[in-house]
Amino acid sequence: MQAMSSEFNFFQHWYPLTPVEDLDSKCPTPVTILGIRLVIWKPKSSDTYQVFLDQCPHRLAPLSEGRIDDKTGNLMCSYHGWQFDEHGICTNIPQA
Ligand code: FES
Repeated sequence: MQAMSSEFNFFQHWYPLTPVEDLDSKCPTPVTILGIRLVIWKPKSSDTYQVFLDQCPHRLAPLSEGRIDDKTGNLMCSYHGWQFDEHGICTNIPQA
């Protein structure tokens, strides 16, 4: 008889975040699951929503406080204006 692991690993499973009807495609939405803060947002060029850590890589500000840029359709951090595309790649640093 094989020994079964009795430990359930919550981080190795999928979870629903929110009904899509509750999302506004024009602004980022914060959610927290398993103590991890996430942001759900929809790039203008995409039909699908993206989920990122709700943490700007610049100074860790919440990306959910940012907005979807009208021109690029990317997620813009509200603090210093860095922008991220649907792959999470930084596409614009205004100060650079
Ligand atoms: S903290 Fe996001 S751009 Fe600076």
